[in-house]
Amino acid sequence: APDAVTVTIDAGKPGPVINRDIFGQFAEHLGTGIYGGVWVGPKSPIPNVRGIRKDVVAALRDLRVPNIRWPGGCFADEYHWRKGIGPADKRPSTLNASWGGVIEPNSFGTHEFMDFAEQVGAEVFVSVNMGSGSVEEAADWMEYMTADKPTALARERAANGHPAPWKVKYVGLGNENWGCGGAMSADHYVEEMKRFAHYTRNLNPAQAEGASRMQRIAVGWDGDSADYTEAVMQAWKSKVWSWDIEGVSLHSYTVGGWPPSMASTGFGDPEYLKLVSETLNMDGKITKQSAIMDRHDPEKKLSIVVDEWGAWLAPTPGSNPGFLQQQNSQRDAVIAALNLNIFIRHADRVRMTNIAQMANVLQAMVLTDGPRMVLTPTYHVYRLYVPFQDATRVPVRFDAGGYAAGGFSVPRIDAVAARDRSGKLWLAVTNLDPRRPATLTLAGAKSADGEVLASTRVDAHNSFDAPATVAPKRLAAIATPAGLQVELPPASIAVLGLVGQ
Ligand code: AHR
Repeated sequence: APDAVTVTIDAGKPGPVINRDIFGQFAEHLGTGIYGGVWVGPKSPIPNVRGIRKDVVAALRDLRVPNIRWPGGCFADEYHWRKGIGPADKRPSTLNASWGGVIEPNSFGTHEFMDFAEQVGAEVFVSVNMGSGSVEEAADWMEYMTADKPTALARERAANGHPAPWKVKYVGLGNENWGCGGAMSADHYVEEMKRFAHYTRNLNPAQAEGASRMQRIAVGWDGDSADYTEAVMQAWKSKVWSWDIEGVSLHSYTVGGWPPSMASTGFGDPEYLKLVSETLNMDGKITKQSAIMDRHDPEKKLSIVVDEWGAWLAPTPGSNPGFLQQQNSQRDAVIAALNLNIFIRHADRVRMTNIAQMANVLQAMVLTDGPRMVLTPTYHVYRLYVPFQDATRVPVRFDAGGYAAGGFSVPRIDAVAARDRSGKLWLAVTNLDPRRPATLTLAGAKSADGEVLASTRVDAHNSFDAPATVAPKRLAAIATPAGLQVELPPASIAVLGLVGQ
């Protein structure tokens, strides 16, 4: 083809490892994110294991979800863990004041979350309550979850059915404490955070050292103001022995203007381009947060943890607006792939991210309706990217030019490449252009085989009645006189395994 784009992978120049935690998830007590989406209760006719949906767990297992962030979000700063333990019929009903003012039955608490994470095969990322809670409450929760010695809290855990301590790999020290988490100034947050960082001890001897050591994530940049990151990093630089952190968060959503009003279906190219171009701002935000962190931590000891990101659109018509329910289209798939590519390009500093959210909320992996479940286009992107988990990034070069319309301009192609632990080379490539297919010539490769996620419309989506409208299809490169070539449909994402390099 005359406008074929040559893609060259410098396979001999390995970069950083792409931490599998970059593909993490977020499950908040918000709308039907937990109740209905994950938890149906042991007596439900919906197939479940100890109350947790079998279909959702099976779908998530195929994504090899590395970690799950819970219980929020804003909800974390009003969550009191004691209300979610003990016999189910004795747990109090509380109000979910953050999200819709609905009853929180507390049926899904610590034991159920740990069970869910184990069923999925994921590490846990627990956010402690720094907003309405106390250091003592957070320290007790940690002891309840991780103590192996027979303290009163460890014995209570055993009496509630779990004698062995759990592993808690990640702890979030609050959430958005500039806003829903207590409206704290950056300096006030830092003073509080240091106490929480010190006392939220992990007492599980299996996590005493090595790769399984717990990591604490402080609240960082909100995407608009960098004061939290600056204050946290300054404090960390001059810290005393008694406290430490291992990561700083960054939250950034693709919204198209606040309050969120962009429809999740029924849109065309202009709305596609607006959000696709906005989502590319993630790169600048990470670069800015990295620059602040580099000044205080040039050795890159601390990670950037993008523990909330994704498309935040208008609620599905007829749904409770406090439930943040939206459809998920081919545009979301492109948004997911572009963000994952950005994280991969920043893998030397970005070591964990959590898309918001796992089920039924914002840019979800799965949507459920009673017994039915549907996989979203975003889910398929995560499945396609599984080979990138813990793979080593390698540079990829291409010059495809740009695509411009309606005042927005974006690159026509985006790509990342990596070598997995078995030595196989992988290329993930997105054609951002919603109109034109792109022909790629894969320089140096002998064969390439994989899958592509494409649709005839940028707003194509999966519904309960048509669950496979957007689904990956096999894509194999073809040997041509000009070299090995693949054709990418408009607004599509392909992941290919390459042979020959
Ligand atoms: O993901 C939804 C909400 O967005 C989270 O609860 C909050 O942290 C953020 O503002």
